[in-house]
Amino acid sequence: MNTKIIGTGYDLPAFAADNDYLATLVDTSDEWIVERTGIRTRHLAKEETTTSMAVRASVQALERAGMKAEEIDLLIVATITGDTETPSTSCRVQAEIGAHRAVAFDVNAACSGFLYGMHIAEAFIRSGIYRNALVIGSETMSKIIDWTDRSTCVLFGDGAGAAVLAGTEEPGILSQIVGSNGGKWEVLECQGRPNENPLNKEERKPGYLTMNGQEVFKFAVKTVPVCVEEALEKAGVAADEVKYFLLHQANKRIIQSVAKRLGQPEEKFPMNLDQCGNTSAASLPILLAQMDEQGLLQRGDKLVLSGFGAGLTWGACLLEW
Ligand code: ACO
Repeated sequence: MNTKIIGTGYDLPAFAADNDYLATLVDTSDEWIVERTGIRTRHLAKEETTTSMAVRASVQALERAGMKAEEIDLLIVATITGDTETPSTSCRVQAEIGAHRAVAFDVNAACSGFLYGMHIAEAFIRSGIYRNALVIGSETMSKIIDWTDRSTCVLFGDGAGAAVLAGTEEPGILSQIVGSNGGKWEVLECQGRPNENPLNKEERKPGYLTMNGQEVFKFAVKTVPVCVEEALEKAGVAADEVKYFLLHQANKRIIQSVAKRLGQPEEKFPMNLDQCGNTSAASLPILLAQMDEQGLLQRGDKLVLSGFGAGLTWGACLLEW
């Protein structure tokens, strides 16, 4: 049994903050941000939440898949910014869209989360346990960003993307690779809410995201080409046969470097980071859904999705559209 993406959807907050707006908050400039990252604007949630964006993206994906919410067997939300510690965002999405038959849980693998979700969903579908899955990446990064830290606050944005996966005899996902290196967890972290256990009076850092940008950069440009090549090799597909490489939208320079290392033209690496910034687990499904909406994906096209993130984590998925 193969697994195919049969519908995509996305949602972005209404408010778009350009680089000049950020320059009113921290000592930065449009020129620095564009030159170092490629980002020009990002959407930031005012009214929207991780759940509400996930719901809108899911409704669109289900509509495009021609599937009803109650048909969904498995519902996975990849997020590091759920609206509640518990229940999971997936349970809240389940309730809102009416996917009452689904098993629902969240996955925390930061920017690689959507690829982890796809990996889990495919394993369940291939084994015959479930017939289909709704995999969502949804993030409100703006609530864990330190808005006084110019080295991180200019990078991230909010949004959600979703994909409906179904078992099929046709070719779909051809190979998947995921990996983790917990030994490097401190490179990119967010401690979250303080531990209020009366037995533990240890001083805690405020719960904002901190990052060693250069370490993450080096890790990304080294790891992403390797895992993309592993995914291609596993399926016996040459890089030249791939129509598009959809990479996690963190930094234009990282994407350019990966293109060079793979020996592939930059035109094969679509980007929306100039408009969305880094939306963590939502980045890949938003890009995929936008390309789908624009009619850029034809049946039979080979696509690679690949990303990296906190953990450290990484992944690549080769599929036939
Ligand atoms: N505006 C102006 N100056 C800035 C800004 C800013 N927003 N941010 C940093 N600077 C300054 C620094 O203070 C430094 O100044 P100094 O030389 O006087 O000390 C100078 O710019 C250079 O800083 P670097 O950190 O060396 O800049 P670099 O070229 O490495 O770019 C960046 C930084 C964009 C963060 C880059 O390292 C990067 O993209 N790293 C990868 C980050 C990433 O992808 N993170 C997402 C991971 S996904 C997830 O799981 C959440």
